[in-house]
Amino acid sequence: MSRKTVLVARRIFPDIVERLRAEFDVRTSDGDAPLAREALVAALQDCDGAFVTGTEPIDAALLDACPRLKAVCSMAVGYNNIDVPACTARGVLVTNAPGVLTETTADFGFALMMATARRITEGERFLRDGLWKHWSVDMMAGADVHGATLGILGMGRIGQAIARRGHAGFDMRIVYHNRSHLPAEEEAALKATRLSLDDLMRTADHLVVVTPYTPQTHHLVGAAQLALMKPTATLVNIARGGVVDDAALARALAEGTLAAAGLDVFEGEPAVHPGLLEIPNVVLTPHIASASIPTRRAMANLAVDNLLAALGVGPSPGLPPTPLNLEVLARPLRT
Ligand code: DGY
Repeated sequence: MSRKTVLVARRIFPDIVERLRAEFDVRTSDGDAPLAREALVAALQDCDGAFVTGTEPIDAALLDACPRLKAVCSMAVGYNNIDVPACTARGVLVTNAPGVLTETTADFGFALMMATARRITEGERFLRDGLWKHWSVDMMAGADVHGATLGILGMGRIGQAIARRGHAGFDMRIVYHNRSHLPAEEEAALKATRLSLDDLMRTADHLVVVTPYTPQTHHLVGAAQLALMKPTATLVNIARGGVVDDAALARALAEGTLAAAGLDVFEGEPAVHPGLLEIPNVVLTPHIASASIPTRRAMANLAVDNLLAALGVGPSPGLPPTPLNLEVLARPLRT
């Protein structure tokens, strides 16, 4: 039987590409930037599978232009770049990478919250710019994290991991907003209280946004919600750009109706709303919440496990570990 062909759409760890080469003819993208759309379509011609990240848009037009494509396996947990219903309609299996990045991403969310509340990057800039002349009582004075109320918008795996850190490590009161309730025993273990979105905004001293980006969550945190927050509160977004209205956030920060923000994701990234670049009370990082080396390797290996299984080769052909549209397997994949 002839070998199947797969595209690795982004530069990844060479030994992980070798896992694919053992079973497939592999095309790689050698540059570090995402392929432009035409280049992606061209590279996917005659490919049976694609290893992608959160940066390759996979939509109906691309699927129609790449008729051999049967499996799209992403190393990201967020999959707003992939039109899953369009894939399902065409018999294309989609997988993402949940679980393996939970703790690393929660570490980062917590770190961003602490850096934001305690003005760490602002203090560093102040020092590096030679502005530190003497110790003073209110210099870079921020908000406490321990004992404060931690609000979590989106109580999935990562939200719960952040809540555990706040509850067990920092004696924080946990409040959250999520479509569904946590199971009663988890709510009890975290002493967590589910609130309406508006009450969450009013109550949180530190709000962490971790909800997936969908048409329903676009600008879920907009001007009206920000206006409900305490002027001493902070907001952290490690979800996706677009869940928070960045223009409204920049205004709230500039006007002082919100104390500070920590942002790892942005609307239209890598562009950043200019208003956010102009003000000191924002900690900005370039979408790196899951970026520890062990975790990025685990994410990439999980995508490879999925691709091997989806295309029916390797140690456990057939059932990919983390499918998003398992129903596709009930019928033959595209030929
Ligand atoms: C994810 O896995 O969704 C991270 O945000 C990287 O894209």
